[in-house]
Amino acid sequence: MIKILAIESSCDETAASVCVDGKILSNFIANQKVHEKYGGVVPELASRAHMQNIVPVVDTALKEANCRLKELDAIAFTRSPGLIGSLLVGSQFAKSLAFSLNIPLIAVHHMQSHVLANLIPLDHPSFPFLCLTVSGGHTQIVLCESPLQLKVIGETIDDAAGEAFDKSAKLLGLPYPGGPLVDKLAQQGDPRKFKFPEPQVSGYDFSFSGLKTSILYFLQNAGKSNIYKEEFLATEEEKQEFIKNNLNDICASIQERIVSILLNKLKKAAAETGIKDICLAGGVAANSGLRKGFEELGKKNGWRTFIPAFEYCTDNAAMISITAYYKFLEKDFADLSVTASARS
Ligand code: KG4
Ligand code: ZN
Repeated sequence: MIKILAIESSCDETAASVCVDGKILSNFIANQKVHEKYGGVVPELASRAHMQNIVPVVDTALKEANCRLKELDAIAFTRSPGLIGSLLVGSQFAKSLAFSLNIPLIAVHHMQSHVLANLIPLDHPSFPFLCLTVSGGHTQIVLCESPLQLKVIGETIDDAAGEAFDKSAKLLGLPYPGGPLVDKLAQQGDPRKFKFPEPQVSGYDFSFSGLKTSILYFLQNAGKSNIYKEEFLATEEEKQEFIKNNLNDICASIQERIVSILLNKLKKAAAETGIKDICLAGGVAANSGLRKGFEELGKKNGWRTFIPAFEYCTDNAAMISITAYYKFLEKDFADLSVTASARS
């Protein structure tokens, strides 16, 4: 029996999980409310909150799993990518614990773990599979040959899909993080009411910054056009009036375009690789439009589709513990000299 405690602290969630032989026994998360009033995550505040949270979070995850420290076989932590101050709290804590218990330390890549969240349920994809990972910081199509052999075959050349949702929401005056709110409002709107351009990017790569610019102009022009022209410029009152009267349709149309950008590339990757087991991962996988479009596309193309449970899509430590389990099987351990890294 292999029992692993995993810690995730790459951004603004302090999380811990215990798994035994790849089965999740606990998955506890402390969210940080402190960032709400700033409209985004403040790195220094995140590190401080991680320091306050880490002991009670680990303690709760162990209690929920009915597990004592001395039963553990390894300690895992998110090594990269993320906010360096946040990563340092989790990595130093994990290193100290592994050292004091004299058990192996496992360093996990956060984006790999988003993908491997798909291996948590018993009914999981077979290798090779494709995964569209969509989060606040990343958008990737990953070809997975085995748990530890993952190849990024496409990624965003500018903003991530989550950022596209959040930045669009900000332009509409919605609070951070706006993604879930755009999703909610979109459910009452007409996705065909407004047209936003689809970027032309080669291969399986994505781009979302042009969409953001076209939404900016579209709102500045109170819906008359989504290209910049002096004569279209609306007053601030006209712009606010337009947003107020069309909010649901605007959200639905933005969501429609973000989803079509994502799914068109996924469809191309599936067709060209011939792979039929296709997964979603990351926080944006919670988006109802994306889930629906993904399932429909899967049906049309004979894919077996997989989406992790909601609590395994947004940042969590269960995905770190499942990844660590596969690393444990391969004896892929880290040295105590390992350091956290902000970049992938
Ligand atoms: O994976 P995640 O929890 O954190 C990162 O590693 O970035 O993803 C967070 C992102 C945010 O941009 C958030 O707005 C977006 O996921 N998100 C959504 C929805 N739920 C979360 N975007 C659109 N629709 C949703 N329902
Ligand atoms: Zn993440």
